[in-house]
Amino acid sequence: MVETARQFLGRDDVDSVEAILADDSIDFGDLVHPTPARGDAIFTWDYERSRPGLAKLYEKAKTSQWNGSTDLDWSTPVDPERVALEMAPAAAMFQQRMAELPGSPVARWGPKEWTQFQVEALNWRMSQFLHGEQGALICTAKIVATTPWIDAKYYAATQVMDEARHVEVFSRYLDTKLEGHYPVNPALQLLIDDIIGDSRWDMTYMGMQIMVEGLALAAFGFMHHVTEEPLLKKLLRYVMADEARHVAFGVLSLQEYYAGLGAAELRERQEFAFEAALRMRDRLMMHRVWETMGVDRRTVTEFLLGMRRMRNNPFQAALFSKIVPNCKKLGLLDAGDGWLRDRFTDIGVIQFEDAADTGEEYESFDEVAKDRAAG
Ligand SMILES: [Fe+2]
Ligand SMILES: [Fe+2]
Repeated sequence: MVETARQFLGRDDVDSVEAILADDSIDFGDLVHPTPARGDAIFTWDYERSRPGLAKLYEKAKTSQWNGSTDLDWSTPVDPERVALEMAPAAAMFQQRMAELPGSPVARWGPKEWTQFQVEALNWRMSQFLHGEQGALICTAKIVATTPWIDAKYYAATQVMDEARHVEVFSRYLDTKLEGHYPVNPALQLLIDDIIGDSRWDMTYMGMQIMVEGLALAAFGFMHHVTEEPLLKKLLRYVMADEARHVAFGVLSLQEYYAGLGAAELRERQEFAFEAALRMRDRLMMHRVWETMGVDRRTVTEFLLGMRRMRNNPFQAALFSKIVPNCKKLGLLDAGDGWLRDRFTDIGVIQFEDAADTGEEYESFDEVAKDRAAG
């Protein structure tokens, strides 16, 4: 089918270097960033507990609360360079290809530069986790107000508390264990602003619970898998246990709601999901890190877009391993004429469609119960 011309991210060409650089230089403020929140606060007089899946999740959330101050051992000494280098092997092949491409800005880099790059990349990733967690805190507070279902209001209230804890522990780790913060990545903040600014209640779920948290769950999982630093490992294990519930909350709620939507409304949700995926793909370019390392943004943008066209970054594609199966479970991949399937094929992430979705997976992530059982 011939696709009619449509802009995404307000760009004629989503891979326009100029547009990416323009978004990337937006200033989100030194101290505060106000953004409009839209959508009515909905009171419901229907207190009937009619959604057993959400009720079960709520019960689970109430008994899975942990305390970042006492359940994590903050006296653990941390060597940031050592933690950063644990992440290096996964990126080694990508870096080697990058260094070998003609005109590569990193052709002359030796082990010292790559080590420094990894240290900065760790600071950057942890900073984005921190800012993303604040986005989740604000979005779930909005969901408490805007969802019309009492079971969803109950559950979302537990998630607000979870997200406060996540902001707290990432902030503390950055402040006391690492050396250096980064401001929020513009592509991430633009996405969060879109999510908060949309007046349709389900879009907050779609954007935050499915897209942002789906990506976060994959990213946390990767870091948890490679790190041997005991404090970070336990912190991530606890956060992931919560995040798996959060994504499940999104999947359960939207499955029900989307089952009642027509084709045109579903297409809007598909486009929103695709646009969110594009934003998150831009986010992965880590411009600020390259700048810290003395590589200018335009050079690195052109370079990474060239690499992207070669489809040779499985490491980044893997970050979509939760988003794609969850979109499939929601029926969004194949709704209408399979529009979203085609778009995910275009950006090289469709191979994850049959990976485990997160509708049920949260049970196996319940780390608090496991630790309590172990005494
Ligand atoms: Fe979180
Ligand atoms: Fe979350």
